[in-house]
Amino acid sequence: MEPQPITLTRHILEKQADHPDATGEFSIIMAQIALAAKIIARNMSLAGLIDVLGKTGETNVQGESVQKLDKKANDTFVRVFEYHGGLVRSLVSEEMDKPLFVGPPLSGGRRQGKYALFFDPLDGSSNVDCNFTVGSIFSIHRVAEPSTLDSEVNLLKTGAEQVAAGYLLYGPSTVLVYSYGKGVHQFTLDPGIGEFVLSAPHLQIPSRGKVYSVNEGNYDKWPAGTQRFVDYLTEKDPATGRPYSGRYSGCLVADVHRLLSSGGVYLYPAETGKADGKLRLMYEAAPLAFIVEQAGGNASTGMQRIMDIRPETVHQRVPLIIGSREEVKLAEDFIQGRR
Ligand code: AHG
Ligand code: MN
Ligand code: MN
Repeated sequence: MEPQPITLTRHILEKQADHPDATGEFSIIMAQIALAAKIIARNMSLAGLIDVLGKTGETNVQGESVQKLDKKANDTFVRVFEYHGGLVRSLVSEEMDKPLFVGPPLSGGRRQGKYALFFDPLDGSSNVDCNFTVGSIFSIHRVAEPSTLDSEVNLLKTGAEQVAAGYLLYGPSTVLVYSYGKGVHQFTLDPGIGEFVLSAPHLQIPSRGKVYSVNEGNYDKWPAGTQRFVDYLTEKDPATGRPYSGRYSGCLVADVHRLLSSGGVYLYPAETGKADGKLRLMYEAAPLAFIVEQAGGNASTGMQRIMDIRPETVHQRVPLIIGSREEVKLAEDFIQGRR
């Protein structure tokens, strides 16, 4: 007899036994994220047939032009969490200027719910129009019950304070990878039964790899230490496994997912005039840092561990170097002038 597939829900419920004080709340939130992912994956699979391709004509809080699918994916997350179950009080998204307080209303204008969800509804969205891989990223924080009205200040948490984090990858198959702080687990959507089924428990990133992933078109804008690190990776030296192979998809989730299985390093460095780089701390860098650290890798700005950064705003950007332990350490050595 074939073994019974382990669905996402079953996995979470079984793992709750690891937490004697678990209330089942986390499994409800994860089930809602999985629902949002299935809706987004379905919309994506129909791109070209329904009116979801192209830009909306709007510009988001990041100053980037919004794709129709960015907006649709954002609306999907909002719809799935609005008023649902009273667990999630606030939503912070790349596509929304301000946090959205969605918990059921309490007296005095306060909202119910102990969790905040941070998300990048569609990561790598410029890939959509050419039918390339995209993803979604999520991060879950516990937030103090508000005694007064909610404000953004309650949401400025470090990555180390995340309760759980993960991502969705919409590729040839739809994959969900998550961690609640006890390893990293991968699920694949079986469209026939509409369930995410465990496809790889306890992912571990190799301690070093052979791939580097960076937009090299920006080389002239990088600090000297970053340039020297990338020069080093591309030099020929068979004894140290160089040159590395370059792979860059334009989708952070896809590039990090590749690193999880084969190792190596992804960078989105600081640039002239953009000291914090491009990627956002709370819904791109920190959740992926949580995953990669749980899998045995590292994530750094080059100067500081990503998970230790206390944000000043929810949309704060940060330089990101993430992947295998050895390559991230090497990048820090170059950036901090030790090599
Ligand atoms: P988003 O689509 O959410 O704005 O994220 C795009 C990010 C990331 O996924 C990717 O690695 C990087 O931006 C690509 O940027 P460049 O085109 O500047 O290389
Ligand atoms: Mn993104
Ligand atoms: Mn995005």
